Amino acid sequence: MKIDGTPYRAVWVDEGDRWSIRVIDQTKLPWALELLRLTTLRQVAHAITSMQIRGAPLIGAVAAYGLALALRDDPGTEAMERAAAQLAATRPTAINLRWALDRMLTRLRNTTAGQRVAIAYAEAGRIADEDVEQNAAIGRHGLALIQQAADVKGDTTLGVSRGKPVNVLTHCNAGWLATVDWGTALAPIYMAHDAGIPVHVWVDETRPRNQGAALTAWELGKHGVPHTVISDNAGGHLMQHGRVDLAIVGADRVTRTGDAANKIGTYLKALAAHDNNVPFWVAVPSSTIDWTVSDGVREIPIEERDAAEVTTVTGRGLDGRVTTVRVTPTSSPAANPAFDVTPARLLTGLITERGRCDATAAGLQAMFRDRA
Ligand code: MRU
Repeated sequence: MKIDGTPYRAVWVDEGDRWSIRVIDQTKLPWALELLRLTTLRQVAHAITSMQIRGAPLIGAVAAYGLALALRDDPGTEAMERAAAQLAATRPTAINLRWALDRMLTRLRNTTAGQRVAIAYAEAGRIADEDVEQNAAIGRHGLALIQQAADVKGDTTLGVSRGKPVNVLTHCNAGWLATVDWGTALAPIYMAHDAGIPVHVWVDETRPRNQGAALTAWELGKHGVPHTVISDNAGGHLMQHGRVDLAIVGADRVTRTGDAANKIGTYLKALAAHDNNVPFWVAVPSSTIDWTVSDGVREIPIEERDAAEVTTVTGRGLDGRVTTVRVTPTSSPAANPAFDVTPARLLTGLITERGRCDATAAGLQAMFRDRA
C-alpha cells in the first residue's frame, strides 16, 4: 500500500545490498516513519519480541528472512535448527511463525550448506509474495460482503453507491502493516473504498498497546479511508444503536473447528455482535489455520506480556515529544494477557484466500480438502 504516494510493503530485501532486511519500525508509528535494517538473527528476534514488527502474517515472513540471515553467518544444519528454534520462541500465539519456519526447514533440510543461503532467500521471498496474493484474494472475497451491505443501505446502481457509508468495526491492526501487504481484515475495506463504495471504519483503540489507535488509524488515514477511533468499550453501544453494519477482524490462529485467537478484546466484541445480530467475520490466510488444534480456548497458548504495557501509555505530549506516562497507582499490580479466543459459534464465518466459509470443522474441511 502507499504512504504519501510511495508504495511500501511491510518487509522487503534491501534494494542496495540485496541481503539485509528492511521493515518499518511499528513502535514509532504514528509519530514517525522510521525504517529498520535487520542484518542478524538477533536483530530479527528482537524486532519480533519488542513488536517493532508484529501481526501474525508479518511475523511469519520476517522470521523466514531471519532464518536466511542466520544462514549467512552459519549455514550448518545444527546452527540452522538452533536459529529456527530461537525464532519460534519469540512469540507463542501467532501460528504463522511456526508455519513459516516449518516451511523453511522442510525446504532447507535436504540441501547442502553451500546452497542454503540462496534457497532460504528464495523461499522467504515466496512466503512474502504468496502472503500478498492471499491477502488480495481475501480482499476480493470480503469486498462482496461490504458490497452486499452497501446494496442493503442504498442505491448502488452502476457500482457507485450513493447511500450511507457501510460501517465496519475492526479490532487491533489487521491491515497491511500486520502482513506483507494489503492486510487481512482491512483488505476488503481497501478494495471497497477503491471501488467507490462508501465505507467508514470504527477503529477500536485496542489497549494496552493501542495497535488500533496508532496503526490501523494511521494506515487507513494514509489511504484516505474514512474512519473513527473509538475506545475499546464503545463497540457494544454502537452495535445496539445500529451503527455497525459488520465487524471484520484478523486472527493469530484459527483452529480446525473455527475458533479464532486474536488480540485481547476480540471475544467481547464478538459477544456484543452476537447479541445485536451484527455479522462478525474473521479474515485469515490459510497460514493462520492450525489444523492440529480443535479447542481454541483450552489449546491455544496465550501470550502474557509485560504488565508495563497496561500500567503505562505512550503518546505525543502537547510539547510534541513522544513520552510514556504511568496511568495506574504505582502499588497496583497489573496483568496483561495479549490475546483471547472467540469460540466459532460466535462467528458469522471466515474469509480466506479461497473464499468464505462457515467457522466450523466441516466448513474449513470443504474449503481446504488438500490441507485438512
Ligand atoms: O500483538 P500483535 O499486534 O501482533 O497482534 C496482532 C493481531 O492480533 C492481529 O489482529 C492478527 O495478528 C491478525 S494480523 C493480519
